[in-house]
Order: sequence, then C-alpha cells, then structure tokens
Amino acid sequence: NWTMKAFARRAIADIRRQVGDRKVILGLSGGVDSSVTAMLIHRAIGHQLTCIFVDNGLLRMDEARKLKKTFKDHLQINIRFVNARSLFLKALAKVSEPERKRKIIGKRFMEVFEAEARKIEGADFLAQGTLYPDVIESRSAFGGPSAVIKSHHNVGGLPKRMKLKLIEPLQYLFKDEVRKLGKQLGLDPELVWRQPFPGPGLAIRVIGEVSERRLNILREVDHVLVEEIKAAGYYRKLWQSFAVLLPIKSVGIMGDSRTYEHIVAIRAVTSKDAMTADWARLPHDLLGRISNRIINEVRGVNRVVYDISSKPPSTIEWE
Ligand code: XMP
Repeated sequence: NWTMKAFARRAIADIRRQVGDRKVILGLSGGVDSSVTAMLIHRAIGHQLTCIFVDNGLLRMDEARKLKKTFKDHLQINIRFVNARSLFLKALAKVSEPERKRKIIGKRFMEVFEAEARKIEGADFLAQGTLYPDVIESRSAFGGPSAVIKSHHNVGGLPKRMKLKLIEPLQYLFKDEVRKLGKQLGLDPELVWRQPFPGPGLAIRVIGEVSERRLNILREVDHVLVEEIKAAGYYRKLWQSFAVLLPIKSVGIMGDSRTYEHIVAIRAVTSKDAMTADWARLPHDLLGRISNRIINEVRGVNRVVYDISSKPPSTIEWE
C-alpha cells in the first residue's frame, strides 16, 4: 500500500526532526494503536524510545508474556514492565459501581505510569497512539457521547505535570488506516488485527465486585471464546467479541449432582466506530460450541447466554 508507505516515511522523518537526540516515553498497552505508535517511533529513533507497560492484573490470559516476546525479544524495543497487579486489585476490593471502578483504575494507572516515567532520565516527549476520532471526541463541546457516559482514561494530566511534549503520529488516522500502517511496518498480524480492549480491562467485564478468583474464571472463559471465534473465521469480522461474568448464580446439573455456579454472557458486535453497534448474528452451531466448551472446561460456570442487544440503547460493554 503506497499511501501508507509514504505516510510512514514522512512520519518517521518528522519524528526524527522533532526529537533530535532526546528521549521519548510511550505507554504500551498491547493494543493496535500504541503498538503501531511504538513501531513507528522505534523506526525513527531506536533506543531513544522507552515503552512502559503496566500490568494492572486486569488483562487477558498471557498478555504480558506475549507482549514481551513481540516487543522485547523480536523487535528489540526498550520496554519496562511494571507489575502493579496487587495494587490495582486492592484498590478495587469491594467496589462494584462501574464509574468508580474506572476512576480508581485511571488514577492508579496515572500514578504507576508517572512513577516509572520519572525513572527515565532526561525524557522530553510523551508519545500517544491518539487517533483522529479521539481528537474529534475530545474537541467536541460535550466530549463526545461515550466520553460523557463512560470516562475513558489515558495519561491525561501527565504531560503538563512532567513538562513533556506530546507526540501523536496517528492523530490524522482512522482505525483501518492504523491497521494498514501496522501491516506496512511489519507488525505481527495478531496485533494488527486485535479487537479493541477497554483500558479498565476485565474489571468492567466482571460485573459487580472484582476479585482474583472471578478474574481468573473470566480469563479462562475469554480464552476459550477467542479461540473458537478465531477458529470459525469470525475474529476479524467482528468489532469486538468477549465474555462478561455475571454476579448471579444459577442451578445446573453435572453427572448426578446439582451445581450452583456463575452465568457468563457472550457479547459479539459489528460496528464501524463503536458509536453504534449491532449484535452479531453468529451461527447457532458456533454459539453451541462456545457454550459447551466454556461449561465443560471452565470450573465455576454452568450457564452461558448470548447478548442480543444493539447500541443504542445498550452499550457495547456491560458496565
Ligand atoms: P461502550 O460500552 O461505551 O463502548 O459502547 C464503546 C467502546 O469503547 C470501549 N470502552 C472503553 N475503552 N476505557 C477504554 O479505553 C473505557 O473506560 C471504556 N469503556 C468502553 C468499548 O470496549 C468499546 O470498544
């Protein structure tokens, strides 16, 4: 794709000119946007870039390990891993209100990120994978619909506090263009095609109180779900597909005994930009396989339901 090749060349030249021999910090989440930003900046200035990855304990299975393999071992990008799992989990204890969860996670993230960033001496720039729709959303008078309903978090106040200049090389691109750019830069296809994942992570998919046990159940469920969605060739066709762990239990039967375990809801939607979304008409056989595998393989779950609501009036996430 020649346009993306030209875009990459120009962006790299711009970053080199802007940064010179100074240092850049980037918060790497493992999503497409921050990954492509990291690759672009790494191409431009190599080890003058340091990425910070905060493990908040709210990630999916094996995420930190996979990220390390890709970025540190294969691409040789400087990256610092911060294990803040117990910090987040403690802060979330007994909290069930969705906006409170978001506030707590956002605040902790900022603190952890800032503490780590301060260890990188002489950094002048903070890079972010802000896309064009994010720019529009933050500029519009009411902050955009999802910003009002759900407070999305990034490292908002940090640049000012730390006197960092912002670098946002993707600020004129849409998601599909970012994927093309990622492909152009040779980013692992698994990362290029990643579905969006919310900053507060699994904390807003464990409905009600978040605990290590519940997170672990959801991680196992999510793993099975993604495996089946990918095997059926649906992963790239869907905007998002994920599982939600409900805080209620239902009765089931296993062998000759009665069970009383969690219910999991499966959510799969198609969308262009997350402003509106339609529930995906997944084949019944696929839904059946997903349900069977989850109930058979994940201890603590004995019922699976499928969410057939569209946005609006429902939202994509349950919290
Ligand atoms: P909703 O649930 O508002 O979600 O229809 C729209 C899109 O935004 C994602 N989302 C979030 N992303 N922080 C994020 O970074 C958040 O707090 C948050 N809440 C929702 C959601 O996954 C969907 O893609």
